[in-house]
Amino acid sequence: MLVLGVETSCDETSCAIVKDGRIILSNIIASQVKSHAPYGGVVPELASRLHIENCIPILDRTLEAADLTLSEIDLFSVTAGPGLVGSLLVGVELAKALSYVCQKPLIPIHHIAGHLYTPFLASELNHEDNGFDYPYLGLVVSGGHSSIILVKSPLVYEEIGRTLDDAAGEAFDKVAKLMGLGYPGGPMIDRLSEKGDPQFVDFPRPGSKSDNCDLSFSGLKTAVVRYAHNWKKDKESITETDMANVAASFQFAVIDTLLGKTRMALEKTGMERLAIVGGVACNRTLRREAFKMFSGIRIHIPPPVLCTDNAAMIAGLAPHYFDAGKTAPLTLNADVNLRLY
Ligand code: KG4
Ligand code: ZN
Repeated sequence: MLVLGVETSCDETSCAIVKDGRIILSNIIASQVKSHAPYGGVVPELASRLHIENCIPILDRTLEAADLTLSEIDLFSVTAGPGLVGSLLVGVELAKALSYVCQKPLIPIHHIAGHLYTPFLASELNHEDNGFDYPYLGLVVSGGHSSIILVKSPLVYEEIGRTLDDAAGEAFDKVAKLMGLGYPGGPMIDRLSEKGDPQFVDFPRPGSKSDNCDLSFSGLKTAVVRYAHNWKKDKESITETDMANVAASFQFAVIDTLLGKTRMALEKTGMERLAIVGGVACNRTLRREAFKMFSGIRIHIPPPVLCTDNAAMIAGLAPHYFDAGKTAPLTLNADVNLRLY
């Protein structure tokens, strides 16, 4: 089955074609990062306009890269939420038009369910079964979400923990902005931290004493703001090493918190498989520390191109809903929540 997926929930316009829920034939992503960078974050109005400009060229490139025509597509799928409403609307209307013109079904997909599906995607050149299977624990860490989810099947999810305030990526972005590092903050802090000492500042690990798996990052963010405020009076004397030390200390506090809560969730659920997904899963220290900490269990962290937003994850998951006769999962476990026609 050939599925064409569309993803426009935030600031990436992406279309992809995935065969049989597994093999990526094409996955084209147009990032808007450069356009939003001068504003220090995603500007929703600008994001919608850029999706309008980009969606048809990206669709064309996706078909071309897979050497297919629209008439060969069996099923369409689209991210229906959560996300920026103006951005989502562009992708949903594109997918509806494609489905209507081609007279093929359309499956709306929950963005987080898409991220959680990435361990099952493979490339055309390398599609040996990696052995990853259900059930598993998923740590979802992106710009908009931080949660720990027990994935029982492609259709059944149980939330074990969630952020009580900021998402992990949001904390990276806000702290980077405070330090004058630019947008998006995650990759900047990742790079700068390589040269820093993670023990330099003992930032708090929010929620580390509670016995639930919920996450919280706003206290940590405030601690960095307070530290920066009291930093050397003579700002000119702040060296690159000072910056790297603070970045590394903040990053380590986030990673320590995320992995501590993940360990607790693994113990509570008895899971022996873990997937770490979403944009923050690109973080090199997080990847290294996760493999070190959970060396006894099966762990999957997708390649960076599948950690950040992409349509392959949206196309890959769709056949599972189609086969189950379910067409509109707007909340993770709901059967029908959205009428597309
Ligand atoms: O999954 P994603 O592309 O979009 C959302 O669904 O939100 O995640 C984007 C987030 C941004 O906050 C970005 O700063 C963060 O992922 N990110 C990183 C890294 N690369 C991207 N955070 C930490 N380290 C990285 N290397
Ligand atoms: Zn995402």
